[in-house]
Amino acid sequence: MSNQPRVLVTRLIPEVGLQRVRQQCEVTLWSEDMPAPYERLLDLVKGMDGLLCTLTERIDAGLMDAAGQQLKVISQMAVGYDNIDVAAARTRGIPIGNTPGVLTDATADIAMALLLAVSRRIVESVDYIRTGQWQTWQPTALLGTDLAGATLGLIGLGRIGKAVARRARGFDLRLIAYSPHCPPEEAHALGVELVELDYLLSEADYVSIHTPLNERTRHLINRKTLAQMKPSAILINTARGGVVDQHALYEALQAGKLRGAGLDVTDPEPIPLDDPLLGLPNIVILPHIGSASQRTRDRMAMMAADNLIAGVTGQPLPTQVN
Ligand code: GLV
Repeated sequence: MSNQPRVLVTRLIPEVGLQRVRQQCEVTLWSEDMPAPYERLLDLVKGMDGLLCTLTERIDAGLMDAAGQQLKVISQMAVGYDNIDVAAARTRGIPIGNTPGVLTDATADIAMALLLAVSRRIVESVDYIRTGQWQTWQPTALLGTDLAGATLGLIGLGRIGKAVARRARGFDLRLIAYSPHCPPEEAHALGVELVELDYLLSEADYVSIHTPLNERTRHLINRKTLAQMKPSAILINTARGGVVDQHALYEALQAGKLRGAGLDVTDPEPIPLDDPLLGLPNIVILPHIGSASQRTRDRMAMMAADNLIAGVTGQPLPTQVN
């Protein structure tokens, strides 16, 4: 038997990351397309020194206990880690690693892509051709809304929110943000005015969410906060599906109380095919592809590998969340 640390990698991650882990650890890999069922994970994790997981796995106290007391690290290949019970890891003294920074640009790009797609009705326009409706150039068909001169409200001005702000400046948007922990100088340096949430909701033509999912942000966008938004406004969410109450969003879109929405994240994921949101023309829904560029996913895999290896060899994690 090798005396290398034993680690469980819960999904088939990019090869560069996997190779790095294999050089130093004895790897058990769940390589099927679909994530392992929870019960199966309980079994697989037994006796592991390290766990490299993704947002498709629920990492709770039960799973940590099933692993055993030798478990030294949980390395998540994502920046968000709302699927992990951080308090349970803390009581057990298990550090959690994540992959901040490397996916900032890719995710900000997807936020801009959704903003443009919904404001200029790109997907509707593609369908317009596909369904044979394009008969002529029409002065009044498929009219959307402009970005230049409009106000973009960023909920959360962390790494990704700031990267969206930098992009949005190039589109001549006015920028406001609600971000209680952001130093005003940092916001000002980006041309962003920090405001209260109530003001942002009532003032913004476009609202884009860039906050983690936690007790404070779950259903932050709900019937009440949607009602504060302009009926002409568009909501973009590239953060976590749980930040938005999707029933309330459906009602608002359906009733014309909100112009449109662009979601890269839903709750649950995948969104069930019979979800009424999918039947609306004024929404674009993507399958959580914020970080899905080759370079970004490679970097995430390498970073997750580095956190894992640090953890199992008793070093401080390069990027630790708890
Ligand atoms: C993706 O959603 C991530 O949190 O990295």
